[in-house]
Amino acid sequence: MAVPASLFKETLLLPSILSADFSRLGEQIEMVMDAGVRMIHVDVMDGHFVPNITIGPLVVESIAPLVHRRGGALSVHLMIERPEVFLRAFVEAGADAVSLHAEACRNLYHAIETLKSLGATAGLAINPGSSLGVIGEVAPLVDYVLAMTVNPGFGGQKLIEPALARLPKIRRLLSPSAALEVDGGINQENIVRAVEAGANWIVAGAAVFGAKDPAAEVRRLHNLLTAVPRL
Ligand code: DX5
Ligand code: ZN
Repeated sequence: MAVPASLFKETLLLPSILSADFSRLGEQIEMVMDAGVRMIHVDVMDGHFVPNITIGPLVVESIAPLVHRRGGALSVHLMIERPEVFLRAFVEAGADAVSLHAEACRNLYHAIETLKSLGATAGLAINPGSSLGVIGEVAPLVDYVLAMTVNPGFGGQKLIEPALARLPKIRRLLSPSAALEVDGGINQENIVRAVEAGANWIVAGAAVFGAKDPAAEVRRLHNLLTAVPRL
């Protein structure tokens, strides 16, 4: 299923389950969705593209009904080598939006075309320090860009300021209907700056699931987001 067009215009908080308590993952997702979250960020890592291993289609399949029953969407972030090999598996498992890394694709245009042919919302993910040139090449094809503001592989890292500073440049490369997802090190100190820089899908992992009360943290971050005038 794809992400509803209405969500592209919204400023959304996307809690990353990487920092959730996996012994009660369903409960944690329900908690943040009951607090108003409409999209969940799922970090897939293969131990090759990044020095960490997380989850695969099996976990997406197990949480998708829970998220979809509540009218939510799943944004799956593939930090894996050869992502084109696994696109069908993640889409069939219930992923609504899938982002693949430019740095991991030998044939990026084909990989994004494949993702779109599967009916998913197609995202291009880009690491800090990677050239923005590739965005221009596939901008007409992608539905969103995921701009990393940490080096991929782990939650709870410090935001890389130069990666945040280039969000306006990325936003200008995108079509007005595209979303810009920012991912890594976002918390209540810098979330407003991320939106002012042009991001409208805001990933937060440790800031939400590392909080004593994730639902209260979601409400606090949502209050900050609603106070920022949309660009
Ligand atoms: C890192 C992941 C991010 C991370 C965000 O490789 O792509 O989604 O989980 O977590 P925080 O918000 O804790 O940096
Ligand atoms: Zn991510």
